[in-house]
Amino acid sequence: MKKVYLDNNATTMVDPKVKEAMDPFFCEIFGNPNSLHDFGTKTHPYLRKAMDQLYNGINARDEDDIVITSCATESNNWVIKSVFFDHIKNGEKNHVITTEVEHPSVLAAFKWLESQGVKVTYLPVNSEGIVEAHTVKDFIREDTALVSIMWANNETGMIFPIEEIAQICKENGVLFHTDGVQAIGKIKVDVQKAGIDYMSFSAHKFHGPKGVGGLYIKAGKELTPLLHGGEHMRGLRSGTLNVPGIVGMGEAMELASYYLEFEAKKVRALRDKLEDALLEIPDTFVVGSRDKRVPNTILISVRGVEGEAMLWDLNRAGIAASTGSACASEDLEANPVMEAIGAEADLAHTAVRLSLSRFTTEEDIDYTIEVFKKAVERLRSISSSYAYKPENI
Ligand SMILES: Cc1ncc(COP(=O)(O)O)c(C=O)c1O
Repeated sequence: MKKVYLDNNATTMVDPKVKEAMDPFFCEIFGNPNSLHDFGTKTHPYLRKAMDQLYNGINARDEDDIVITSCATESNNWVIKSVFFDHIKNGEKNHVITTEVEHPSVLAAFKWLESQGVKVTYLPVNSEGIVEAHTVKDFIREDTALVSIMWANNETGMIFPIEEIAQICKENGVLFHTDGVQAIGKIKVDVQKAGIDYMSFSAHKFHGPKGVGGLYIKAGKELTPLLHGGEHMRGLRSGTLNVPGIVGMGEAMELASYYLEFEAKKVRALRDKLEDALLEIPDTFVVGSRDKRVPNTILISVRGVEGEAMLWDLNRAGIAASTGSACASEDLEANPVMEAIGAEADLAHTAVRLSLSRFTTEEDIDYTIEVFKKAVERLRSISSSYAYKPENI
């Protein structure tokens, strides 16, 4: 059976070139970089190269602006909790701002802040699922310590006006963190131009390995370390360095930058072809305008077709997609981003996310169009609640 992977916002295949770059660091060059013997020191040039690849990829000033972490969940938690220890616990400030549509690794960290008595503002999003910069300005207060807003949304692919938000934060003396996980490899990310203070990223979202990520920290914007130990990463994040992971992430970043220009155009063309074809189905909706989305993502709702049921049909035909919702006992949960944009309840349950990568082919897309259309026909024919009404369009 044909296999089509359209769940690249969840994770990506490791690029074979990345795997090749990592291979020697398991059984040959396996020393601990902190050891003084040759096994350890042999890793140093490779680590230096990877750090160069990383800071060049996001246009940071140099490698000192980057700290390696285990994943973006760690990076997000680190910034949010560190701001608590640095600026809130001592009573200096007591307010932070984020959005309703952040990844759970941001939202859960803010929930923790709330449990510590911190006031958190969850900004509402507009009908396209983004927060406009002026909204951020309206909610900044004297005691606001941090604004954390994602660069691109994992469900809809919508790109937030990061540069404008960073500027507003700067003007108001507020720290600005962005979760850049879904932006890297999909759009140009230039942390200096954007003027952000902190940015989280994760290798497995741009064809690197799992279990390694990073945090960009603008020079002069310090953070309290949360992991204490052997003083790795300039004392900011202790723990023996994941050498294969770092080498892989560096290579993946360089490839992502290299392919961005050419591959993003190809991915966009395939995404648009898929979207156009699926929108031919009556009563279907896609969240957010195309030109404001990263080029690989579609969040589509097909009225009368439960998202989970669609996933099931797609999976049976070898196609991997996602709903962003979880199955809780007998209740099917609605997609949280669809709820945040105020979609009607029956549509929020139908959302299906299709996310492409530079490895997606034209054949994959043709096959997906065929399978998807057949699945809609089948599922609508057995849906007791769906009756096509022209006024629904
Ligand atoms: C926007 C966003 N932030 C953070 C994460 C968490 O990344 P990691 O798996 O590296 O912890 C994800 C992963 O789905 C994501 O999409």
